[in-house]
Amino acid sequence: MPSGLRDNNLKNSRHPSSPHWSLLGCGALGGVFASLLTQSGQPTRVLLSERHRATLHPGIDFTSLEGHTQLLAIERGFIDKPGPIQRLLVMTKAGQVVSALTPLAGKLAAGVPIVLLHNGMGIAEQVVQLFPHNPVIAGVTSHGAMRCGHFVFRHTGKGETWLGPVNEAAIAYSHLADELALALGQAGWDEQILTRQWQKLAINCAINPLTALYKLKNGELAGPRFADVLQQICVEVADVMQAEGQPTGSDELLRRVMTVVELTADNYSSMYQDMEQGRETEIEAITGFLLGKAAAHGITVPVNQAEPGIAGGRLRSAG
Ligand code: NAP
Ligand code: PAF
Repeated sequence: MPSGLRDNNLKNSRHPSSPHWSLLGCGALGGVFASLLTQSGQPTRVLLSERHRATLHPGIDFTSLEGHTQLLAIERGFIDKPGPIQRLLVMTKAGQVVSALTPLAGKLAAGVPIVLLHNGMGIAEQVVQLFPHNPVIAGVTSHGAMRCGHFVFRHTGKGETWLGPVNEAAIAYSHLADELALALGQAGWDEQILTRQWQKLAINCAINPLTALYKLKNGELAGPRFADVLQQICVEVADVMQAEGQPTGSDELLRRVMTVVELTADNYSSMYQDMEQGRETEIEAITGFLLGKAAAHGITVPVNQAEPGIAGGRLRSAG
């Protein structure tokens, strides 16, 4: 077990007076995290988007990894009257984080930790600006989650979750990882969370745009026609990481990418699914972030640059 990663055998050991988790956004990952936190006995509330104000919320229909389905009662609220927030998990897509949090700017009590769990990078810096008095924590998770219907969620893959501080105020909040571990089975605290975010970004830069543009399952990237392009993507990401003070070998990045390709061979990537369903993709926070950093360092990244452009910018917006 990597250092800092907690294993949990203490399910349901929490007292209801322990601090409330407020989850901003209850989509696939938010629904699964809310369910697992509730099952572990930790008081949990979901803050929903406006479109759910008029809809029924009889509870969350949650199916575990083992296939057990349970109807869970989970408190719900909306951002205009969020109730007391003691710790906030932001569970939206990358491009929704800032607009979802903006109504809380200036209202969230100083010291309430904000945990960001989206894919992609470059958002946390904006959150720190918006909430200069709050600990901001970045998270990387490899759990798999699906929204199968109206408040119907399925946990599709057990993964690792890592949290780490974005600002100095967050350094004292490592206990949040222990508490998440009670629900998720494992979670760890890593002061070098930026390195984990870059490693995840490399995986997303390699897998997501290609699978979305060519309409492929992840496993199809193991075919010989993608060997060169995947290698070039990793070389470019490694160059930018080096310039950002995150030295890594491109071979190491490629090995990580191919491991994920193999482990998720039968899955469609999140970007593929967003494209198919006409939703906005996370390309700006993934390849867009890389391109921004490359430009700042004067590094050319032609292969990554070509990805959003291959389809005339199709990954940049919905529809
Ligand atoms: P999702 O199903 O689209 O969920 C996003 C949720 O955020 C939706 O329920 C959406 O509301 C809600 N939301 C958007 N704006 C909001 C606002 N202003 N106020 C309140 N709620 C708002 O996406 P997801 O799959 O859960 O992914 C979330 C993030 O986790 C992404 O960055 C993704 O890449 C990452 N991630 C996902 C998985 C996975 O397996 N799903 C795994 C690892 C990482 P609506 O209900 O109105 O749509
Ligand atoms: O975005 C995704 O789909 C996932 O992060 C990953 C790891 C690429 C697997 O599909």
